[in-house]
Amino acid sequence: MANPLIYGEVVADDAFADREAELDRLVADLSSAQKVFLISPRRYGKSSLVRRALRRLSRHGHLAVDLTVSSYSSYVAFLEGYARALATVETKWQRARAWLTDVITTTRPELRYEADEGGPGRFSVAFPLVRTARDVNRLANEIFALPGRLAADRKRTVIVALDEFQAIDAFDGGEVEHALRAAAQQQRNVGYVFAGSEPSLMEKMIGPRRPFYKAGPVIRLEKIPAATFAEFIEARFARSGVRTEAGLGAAIVDLAGNLPYDVQRLAHETWDDIRAAGGKKAGAEHLHLTLTRLLAEQDTLFEAVWQRLTLAQRAVLRAVVLQGGRELLSADVRTRHRLGGPSSIQGSLAALRKQDLLLKEGSQYVVVDSLLREWVARKTF
Ligand SMILES: Nc1ncnc2c1ncn2[C@@H]1O[C@H](COP(=O)(O)OP(=O)(O)OP(=O)(O)O)[C@@H](O)[C@H]1O
Ligand SMILES: [Mg+2]
Repeated sequence: MANPLIYGEVVADDAFADREAELDRLVADLSSAQKVFLISPRRYGKSSLVRRALRRLSRHGHLAVDLTVSSYSSYVAFLEGYARALATVETKWQRARAWLTDVITTTRPELRYEADEGGPGRFSVAFPLVRTARDVNRLANEIFALPGRLAADRKRTVIVALDEFQAIDAFDGGEVEHALRAAAQQQRNVGYVFAGSEPSLMEKMIGPRRPFYKAGPVIRLEKIPAATFAEFIEARFARSGVRTEAGLGAAIVDLAGNLPYDVQRLAHETWDDIRAAGGKKAGAEHLHLTLTRLLAEQDTLFEAVWQRLTLAQRAVLRAVVLQGGRELLSADVRTRHRLGGPSSIQGSLAALRKQDLLLKEGSQYVVVDSLLREWVARKTF
């Protein structure tokens, strides 16, 4: 029996919880060729949601292209990947080759096909002759126009998903944003979803005086409602023949800070431990055994994280854990945890957020990784 709880990868349809409203909205916006921004902190489930929307859109006959911006090492590599993805969407490589040769005029692309035994083979696109910044910009304008041409040539709506979109800024600052926005704006039959996991960068990108200001709807993905998620987890256990004690789903969601990734991790690992022992029942004691194992496994890693922090940051991190992330600046909390003055605390909080250890939810600070939170609570003083 395979573990029914999945983490660390984009989840398949049957392992996907809730998000019905977000999914409907995303699918509707993209079908009507809107340029959607999808924003949330890391590991909330953006990629899983986008993939699910793309599958649905493909079934409706749209052409979907999916790229992770952060996986490219340079601007040109991104343009190559983008051109390749557009040319090969639902088509044979001979056709893709002819199409690309036809539509790219600013440089001669190098198009290759490598047969792969048993597999579909690999089609690659390279622009070896593009060197100067001017060439890159001209090429970018041409590539960014391709989704529009594809939609016209194939008489279909094209959907472009650019995941980890905040990484686009590293390529060449404002120019990419301008070029992409200018192109997208003219494409009546192309829907875009720009998904990004650094809310502060993404919010800046859609702020005034930036190219994507008011470019389209913004979806800020929230957590899955705790009760819904808890029920989902219990149902997954039940379907795989493991009976859960009352309240186990809620305990998992709570311990995992209701972060989708952490919830699935804790549930997955608990399920594994129970099945390894041949068990058919899951209760609080199993959850705690699994938690203890996970903390032991992560000990070296967390120790290294802790060592890297300054003393002031360690004290603030501990205070966040022990105070549940609230009232950190109050005189009482400052005395109890021997913190410095408010400005020093603010500095530490900012540094911890920058290192992706803390996150601000409304006025509350939370430790991003729920295992680190438990480790700090148990192993530091
Ligand atoms: N709707 C969902 N139902 C069940 N599990 C989910 C859901 N969304 C996310 N998860 C869990 O969270 C994990 C992370 O999801 P995903 O990779 O989609 O998030 P993300 O926001 O794209 O993260 P990142 O910012 O790291 O790219 C998944 O592997 C899965 O375990
Ligand atoms: Mg993602």
